[in-house]
Amino acid sequence: MNKSGCDGSILLERASERTEIPNRTLRPESFQILENLRQIVHGKCGRVVSCSDILTIAARDAVFLTGGPDYEVPLGRRDGVTFAPVNQTLVDLVPPTANVSTILSQFARKNLNVTDVVALSGAHTIGISSCSSFTNRLYPTRDPRMDPTFAASLMQICPALDSTGVTVLDVRSPNTFDNLYYADLYSRQGLFNSDQNLRHDARTLGYVTRFFINQTFFFRMFVDSMVKMGQLDVLTGTQGEIRANCLRRNSDNQHVSSVVKENLGSSSTMR
Ligand code: HEM
Repeated sequence: MNKSGCDGSILLERASERTEIPNRTLRPESFQILENLRQIVHGKCGRVVSCSDILTIAARDAVFLTGGPDYEVPLGRRDGVTFAPVNQTLVDLVPPTANVSTILSQFARKNLNVTDVVALSGAHTIGISSCSSFTNRLYPTRDPRMDPTFAASLMQICPALDSTGVTVLDVRSPNTFDNLYYADLYSRQGLFNSDQNLRHDARTLGYVTRFFINQTFFFRMFVDSMVKMGQLDVLTGTQGEIRANCLRRNSDNQHVSSVVKENLGSSSTMR
């Protein structure tokens, strides 16, 4: 969650946000895929759809295509023209070492409640992490909240505190969007401290349990929270711009005004 909100700033190739520690495993090809999608959309419709909307739709489709729920997303965002300040990502993103109190208060700053915290953490049902995000749970001593067999397998992938390897977030079904992330937590096989602690704190345990026993309920709550999070600090109307290249602001793209006509307003209301 970035201070500048859902404005596509993460896509900008000059943004420090892209290279700061929490975002380092984001694959360069995924940024290019979003730019390729923009080319297709703008080729058909002109420059009326923002990169932040394309990103929101792509995230929605990634959830569905990996087995998760399908859902409608409000559209009409415009793209940011400012970069997040250096190190802002570290300030805004909760570290994986965080305890539940820190997570709840950081999310509350964005008006996200305890249900949102547990449901959105369920996104860790897919994806990967670098060793550095969790080796503090292995060395110098194993976190007692981590299953010893799970710890042993992680130690093979990440043999030292500063190992540079990567591993999956959800050991049971790493490429499927399902509720087995919550089964991981029940078996003390959550990867991050921030994940595992949700199972050990009275404020979050109830939702961990409900999502673990009822995938339909998890999907419903996840959708609500995603839609809510996707509307944080959005730009609409005449704010920001519609980028002609998702990876650059229009002002960084010298030829843009001569190549494509600005089309203000045509996608400017949230639907
Ligand atoms: C308590 C809040 C959260 C913490 C502490 C957290 C932490 C992390 C960390 C440390 C990584 C691995 C990054 C790396 O090693 O490079 C990661 C990956 C990931 N996170 Fe989170 N996260 C949180 C919330 C969320 C939310 C709200 C979502 C989405 C709804 C999300 C979706 C993902 C996904 C999909 C990945 C995998 C990325 C990939 O495969 O490249 N996380 N998270």
